[in-house]
Amino acid sequence: MRLLYEGKAKRVYELDRDVLVLEFKDELTAFDGAKRDQAPMKGVYAAALSAFLFSYLDSNGVYTHFIEYDGDRRIKVLRLEMIPLEVIVRNYAYGSQLRRMPLLRPLKKLERPIVEFHYKSDELRDPLVLPEDILEAGILTESELRDIVSLSLRVNELLSSLFQKHNLRLIDLKLEFGRRDSKIVLGDELSGDTMRLLDEEGRHLDKEAYRRGASPTELVENYRKILEILNVKIAPMKIEKKVL
Ligand SMILES: Nc1ncnc2c1ncn2[C@@H]1O[C@H](COP(=O)(O)OP(=O)(O)O)[C@@H](O)[C@H]1O
Ligand SMILES: [Mg+2]
Repeated sequence: MRLLYEGKAKRVYELDRDVLVLEFKDELTAFDGAKRDQAPMKGVYAAALSAFLFSYLDSNGVYTHFIEYDGDRRIKVLRLEMIPLEVIVRNYAYGSQLRRMPLLRPLKKLERPIVEFHYKSDELRDPLVLPEDILEAGILTESELRDIVSLSLRVNELLSSLFQKHNLRLIDLKLEFGRRDSKIVLGDELSGDTMRLLDEEGRHLDKEAYRRGASPTELVENYRKILEILNVKIAPMKIEKKVL
């Protein structure tokens, strides 16, 4: 397989014209890469959780890029033309939202989920952008923008209620989308790196724990705990997928 790209969290390989392999690394980074560590098993747990959540979404009518999980640290996905945006859905006030709107108290439940967009750029540190900026820059058409907002809210609803059944609280969530055959498809990963998830006692099971000083080992233990709470087995899994 040809290595196409190596990012902070994953390696991307090309299997064929339509299918890529995402390999989840054990590298742990925070603060735009300023803090970094090796975290053995992190990649396996992130791949297993992503596979489980993508297949859950697929079986609930959200078309995702997920095809197959190898039971280790690789997932096969449909190749997408990625859109350079990070879409964040917030259920409770947290993180950069508190910095830009200090009147909100941390973990205040939002009246309704907020969907916000960041332009994906490491060197600009993923700046917040307006929907109008996205349209003006020609990144999305109006109808794609509408699709992304409604898909993001749907994904948030499905995942929030899944987690709630296991007494976990989804604070916020980062999504990436791509195009395939002019349709918008959910891509990238769904893991403790891309969402904030609190347990019953309000402890962070996600990467926030590491940002606040937890050791890499403690963080990986949290990621294992998420899988245990959701009853996810680390085993190969394949779903029936119509290739668009
Ligand atoms: N289905 C897909 N098709 C093509 N590219 C994808 C797909 N899913 C994710 N990607 C891209 O693969 C890369 C994953 O590597 P990652 O380590 O997360 O990179 P980064 O540091 O750029 O976020 C990202 O650039 C992401 O946008
Ligand atoms: Mg990434």
